[in-house]
Amino acid sequence: MGAQGRRFQGVLIVSALARKTNNASVPKNPGLPDNFAETVDREAGRGGAAPILSWETKRERRQKYILFLEDVSVSFDGFKALDNLTLYLNEGELRCVIGPNGAGKTTMMDVITGHTRPDSGEAFFGENLNLLDKDEVFIAQSGICRKFQKPSVFESITAAQNLVLAMKAHKTVFGTLAAKLSPEDNDYLGHILSLVRLTDKADKLAGTLSHGQKQWLEIGMLLAQKPKILLLDEPVAGMTAREIDRTTELLLSLEGEHSIILVEHDMEFVRSVARTVTVLHQGTVLAEGDIDFVSSHPEVIEAYLGGA
Ligand SMILES: Nc1ncnc2c1ncn2[C@@H]1O[C@H](COP(=O)(O)OP(=O)(O)OP(=O)(O)O)[C@@H](O)[C@H]1O
Ligand SMILES: [Mg+2]
Repeated sequence: MGAQGRRFQGVLIVSALARKTNNASVPKNPGLPDNFAETVDREAGRGGAAPILSWETKRERRQKYILFLEDVSVSFDGFKALDNLTLYLNEGELRCVIGPNGAGKTTMMDVITGHTRPDSGEAFFGENLNLLDKDEVFIAQSGICRKFQKPSVFESITAAQNLVLAMKAHKTVFGTLAAKLSPEDNDYLGHILSLVRLTDKADKLAGTLSHGQKQWLEIGMLLAQKPKILLLDEPVAGMTAREIDRTTELLLSLEGEHSIILVEHDMEFVRSVARTVTVLHQGTVLAEGDIDFVSSHPEVIEAYLGGA
């Protein structure tokens, strides 16, 4: 959808109409812009993000969403890795982002975390935090935490010690591992261990955990920082079926408390956790909606699912 991000004036009335049609397809009308049907799809509730009203200001949209990306473009030597990408994340939402290799998923996370500066576009965390003029450390400390695909835990200390290190108050001081945690921190540590199903592994060296347990531990290390937004890049890659099921439970239990963007290729897993799915292709949003909508979307099938 190359026209992603463009706004169509007066969409409100038609949006209401589209809702009445109960997600029925909106026929193309020669008097309307090319992206009209997709725009109405979004407005009809298949589009994930809440309706975009023509008179809504950018500021109002920033107030509405915890994460606001509009028309973000990133080029590498002339190649557009992101091409006018627009994505909004609601507070407490668990959003799945899928798409073929090279679609721009990781680049999108790089922009959100301040690792990559876009050529154009806007990115805000909440109403006022402009992600494009902050560095990676500031953004991480503000509450956007990211998990890369490969688990990166400290293998020579225990699972619990990894979590203690990650807890904000202890972040800078390796030497305080032995220091006593406050009762509140201790409770929180127990809570995270139980959330990530590692209570009985708390005293095991992280290096002895299975691949899946290390992935959970790393998610726990992010949770220890009490993040507002969690970015997870393929967390179930390499997990057993049972571990994937437990990860599904874990992520669903975080829904509502944390806002999460989950990049994943495993469609069965996506189906089990997804509410709204955003499909990226060639650096832009190809489709957005519930899993049934995107998985039956002809362009998504052609660009991604058909070859899977
Ligand atoms: N630092 C870079 N320099 C040049 N090209 C890059 C750079 N980073 C990414 N790209 C290119 O940008 C495009 C998008 O890459 P990106 O890693 O964001 O895709 P992805 O959707 O995460 O893919 P995958 O599913 O394989 O992880 C790719 O064509 C990639 O080769
Ligand atoms: Mg990637």
